Amino acid sequence: MVNLAILISGKGSNMGAILDAITSKQILEVDKVLVISNKKESIGLQVAKDRYRISTESITKDKKLSTNDFDKKIIHILKSYDIHPSNGLICLAGFMQILGSYIVDMYKHVILNIHPSLLPSFKGLHAQKQAVDAGVKISGCTVHFVENAVDTGPIILQKCVPVFDTDTEYTLSQRILIEEHKIYKEAINLFINKKLKIESNRVIIK
Ligand code: GAR
Repeated sequence: MVNLAILISGKGSNMGAILDAITSKQILEVDKVLVISNKKESIGLQVAKDRYRISTESITKDKKLSTNDFDKKIIHILKSYDIHPSNGLICLAGFMQILGSYIVDMYKHVILNIHPSLLPSFKGLHAQKQAVDAGVKISGCTVHFVENAVDTGPIILQKCVPVFDTDTEYTLSQRILIEEHKIYKEAINLFINKKLKIESNRVIIK
């Protein structure tokens, strides 16, 4: 059993896909679920409350707050919901605030992220626009363990999608999002079922 925290910033479609998978028992062995947003007004937070009746918290990082103190606040919330490194899983799902080394080290290899590109290509913001602008013919999405640099860490699963000549950032994003929703729940199941073994920078699926 794991206690799950999903961290979001926006509309939360990946969060919704994970919560649907839990509801429909495609993901088993999840005990408590908490959704945290760094934006009080994010649509996903409202959806988590209204549609899924999930516990929610919001925490904003104003400029005065150091990354370390922001991390500590998140850890305080996680612990108050019994989400610890030993029994927890933290899924970043469109969480657009960078976590610091304090929390990443404490929850080492317990934090997963989804990114809308085939990492290590197109890290950072607007990955889909970066792919369109670069003229690549294939892009996709990646679920990886979070380490101490943006969009890095051992890769768990990737899925590729074609990039068409007519694609815009929006159309490519939509195509990638469909695959994101599939691979995130697959990666969560692998994690929960202890099928992931990290060897150096590689994730071996047992
Ligand atoms: C998703 O495409 C996710 O991969 C991306 O934000 C979107 C959130 O959508 N994350 C990043 O770019 C992180 N570097 P959602 O709120 O509908 O799940």
